[in-house]
Amino acid sequence: MYQLTRSLLFRLDPETAHGLTLTALDKLYQAGGVERLYGPAVSDPVELMGLRFANRVGLAAGLDKNADHLDALGALGFGFVEVGTVTPKPQPGNDKPRLFRLAKHGAIINRFGFNNKGVLHLVEQVKKRRYAGLVGINIGKNLTTSVDGALGDYLTCLEAVHDVADYVTVNVSSPNTPGLRTLQFGDQLDALLGPLRERANELDAQTGRRVPLLIKIAPDMSDEEIALVAQSITRNAFDGVIATNTTVERSAVKGHVHAEEAGGLSGRPVFEPSNRIIRALRAHLPGLPIIGVGGIDSPKKAQEKLAAGADLVQLYSGLIYEGPKLVSGCARALAKG
Ligand code: FNR
Repeated sequence: MYQLTRSLLFRLDPETAHGLTLTALDKLYQAGGVERLYGPAVSDPVELMGLRFANRVGLAAGLDKNADHLDALGALGFGFVEVGTVTPKPQPGNDKPRLFRLAKHGAIINRFGFNNKGVLHLVEQVKKRRYAGLVGINIGKNLTTSVDGALGDYLTCLEAVHDVADYVTVNVSSPNTPGLRTLQFGDQLDALLGPLRERANELDAQTGRRVPLLIKIAPDMSDEEIALVAQSITRNAFDGVIATNTTVERSAVKGHVHAEEAGGLSGRPVFEPSNRIIRALRAHLPGLPIIGVGGIDSPKKAQEKLAAGADLVQLYSGLIYEGPKLVSGCARALAKG
């Protein structure tokens, strides 16, 4: 059935299709249809970072930037849902068009640029949720904030979301906010992660609730850079890593009409580059919780992410190409081990 829906949706402009799908999903959810079609979630409880995940498959950040569709998306059977990226102030993101399908590659290029309604809106939405699974909140900086001032934006978001988040992801790997990725490197990374760790410790102590802090990194890193990131994660006692975000590399889609669009490439072409990062991180930090994301479009690919060293996985592009059945398919495959 999803193949039919997909062939209709793929005739539309990608961003229009995206909006229509989420509206339709919300309506179906309100009528009880999402759980009937896709639920209940596969039960495969996993303890990690002091949290209990209902199963190993999560929704990756960026699909529900404002937590406006949390209940409907959660009902697709995810063990956890990550919302955001959210910034302190609302912002419109980049001009359209900013989303491109590369169907023959099972890929997407996006340059949304953190379009979102601001962190206060997101917090209200998360408070109202009925979804019983874990909710991660992915935080970033506003476009108008300089890279030097980025820490202030991340602190503002951390303070705002701490009460309602099951975990917080520090996103330093979007290619669509100029300069953001430079925060992944050298002294800049310690200067960001250190104060965030300190503030999170204070908030944890005040609230009596430990909220794990994760960092989300890019696939476009040399072996040396991965080693340095691993050291910084240890130094600053971060709880885990999400590997990876989208890639700026285009060799896998060379010749496609959209290949040279600016932005981040996701889906099938990022599967192996992400696995490379996961393997390297796993080698550097054997006990580190890793959420593997990038190019999962089948249960077998989800299993390969775990084989590369991930503890949990997330999906985004695969959901667009394969439909919601991918969620339970992957969760079942990972439950079998
Ligand atoms: C993303 N991704 C993303 N990541 C993030 O940390 N914050 C964000 O706001 C977004 N936004 C976003 C929009 C769109 C349209 C896409 C396709 C992706 C990246 C996403 O969470 C994931 O890391 C990558 O897409 C790789 O996984 P898939 O898509 O290959 O499963």
